[in-house]
Amino acid sequence: MEKKRTPTVVFGEWAERGRDEGMAKGHQQAVDHMLEVVLNNRKSFSFLDAGCGNGWVVRQVAKHPQCVSAAGVDGAQQMIDKAKTYNSKNHYTCADLDTWIPSSPVDIVHSMEVAYYLKDPFAFLQNVYNSWLTKGGVLILGLDFYEENTVSHSWPEDCGVSIMHLFSEKHWIKLFRKAGFKEVESTRFGIKENWSGTLILKGQK
Ligand SMILES: C[S@@+](CC[C@H](N)C(=O)[O-])C[C@H]1O[C@@H](n2cnc3c(N)ncnc32)[C@H](O)[C@@H]1O
Repeated sequence: MEKKRTPTVVFGEWAERGRDEGMAKGHQQAVDHMLEVVLNNRKSFSFLDAGCGNGWVVRQVAKHPQCVSAAGVDGAQQMIDKAKTYNSKNHYTCADLDTWIPSSPVDIVHSMEVAYYLKDPFAFLQNVYNSWLTKGGVLILGLDFYEENTVSHSWPEDCGVSIMHLFSEKHWIKLFRKAGFKEVESTRFGIKENWSGTLILKGQK
């Protein structure tokens, strides 16, 4: 059996092969829903996409009339290089989300299909709460790999990725609360046969 590789190595290769585009298409509907939830009736806001891939969500949100800044961070250099070629206006950083902290806090942190790839998802939630968000700021996460979505359980083997934390919805909610988040909510988006939907978690600082 082939040796598993870290998520950023695997996704860096996906960017080289153009697989980032298909991934963005696959995530579009759930992300549109997540953005609707956090942007509805928003006055001016700053936005950060954690694990931004090729930066497609950053570019989408930057067009919102109330958006004052939109930035993305990803650990795969090839993803960040791609994001910068699409658009040099928004700010993109290549960094490890396990330790990185933005230079100034933002109002909304969004992250689609990323948090379970981190070495310590709870430390990430704590970091976001303590150092990434303004007071009243919101974190919204979308996850397709979780315990109740049994069809996803084979992904670590299918994709050869070394770090993938399989948590239940209840466990994610517990981690959000333990990290300090208030008004924690979870929903499932796009449920269909053999697919439990994208698990969406939201919390406020
Ligand atoms: C499934 S992709 C999702 C990308 C993007 N959010 C999207 O929806 O198209 C996961 C992304 O998380 C990034 N990632 C995984 N672990 C990371 C880490 N420790 N630090 C920074 N980025 C990481 C990968 O490089 C990859 O681009």
